Amino acid sequence: MTRLDRVEQTTRGRFTGPPLTPRTAVIWSVLAAELDRRADAELTVLDVGGGTGGFAVPLAQAGHRVTVVDASPDALAALTRRAAEAGVAARVRAVQGDGDALAGLVEPASADLVLCHSVLEVVDDPTPVVTALAAALRPGGAASVLVAGRAAAVLARAMNGHLDVAAALAAAPDGSAGPRDTLRRRFDADGAAALLRAAGLTVEEIHGVRVLADLLPAAVADGQPGSLVELERSLAARSPYRDLAAQLHLFARRPA
Ligand SMILES: C[S@@+](CC[C@H](N)C(=O)[O-])C[C@H]1O[C@@H](n2cnc3c(N)ncnc32)[C@H](O)[C@@H]1O
Repeated sequence: MTRLDRVEQTTRGRFTGPPLTPRTAVIWSVLAAELDRRADAELTVLDVGGGTGGFAVPLAQAGHRVTVVDASPDALAALTRRAAEAGVAARVRAVQGDGDALAGLVEPASADLVLCHSVLEVVDDPTPVVTALAAALRPGGAASVLVAGRAAAVLARAMNGHLDVAAALAAAPDGSAGPRDTLRRRFDADGAAALLRAAGLTVEEIHGVRVLADLLPAAVADGQPGSLVELERSLAARSPYRDLAAQLHLFARRPA
């Protein structure tokens, strides 16, 4: 049985599992392995920039306690509604705040699992955010970090005919095309791993997320979602596919 199959099954007797999509299936497969490893424990989860709770609510449904720290009051209001609708309001805490100010918002060394998805590419400086999330982890705790990939963005801009933007993205140290870019930076696997290691984390796994999903015609992606999920799963850890993915998922751990 694969890790992805396991997430579709019951975890701690309560987890019904989120819909598996090409955007999330690989991440859930990695998280499922950690949830299975701690199957009898009620985990303390921190979701930094967790937004409207796409991961927080299913984790609460799995029986864990989740704190979402997010800068946006609107996102947190939507999270609170979603948690109430799912019947897990008591296990989801919404905290408005900045990722790099976690020390003042959550107990240091208290989290079993920290999520930080699609945040490091938009914050002013990723280093203090990663330092703060590492400090929030208890020794032995795990971090799930999802960042925008640079290579996919270069290819996408070039294929759309924007060769100048592709060249700028490929050359810029931060993987951003400048002030008009929607993201402040993009990452290569080595650069993202180095960022986590510098905060004292041990990087255990790196996967590509959306290797193919953004490249296919909608008719193919929408017409064969199960096949696409399977293909994304099979390519996610393999070079060179991993490095061409729209996003890179890093699973790291604070040494015990
Ligand atoms: C692209 S969304 C990702 C949401 C969620 N993590 C996901 O993967 O679906 C980025 C989120 O980060 C939040 N955010 C941006 N800068 C932040 C910061 N400095 N501290 C905390 N949250 C931040 C935004 O409000 C938004 O909810």
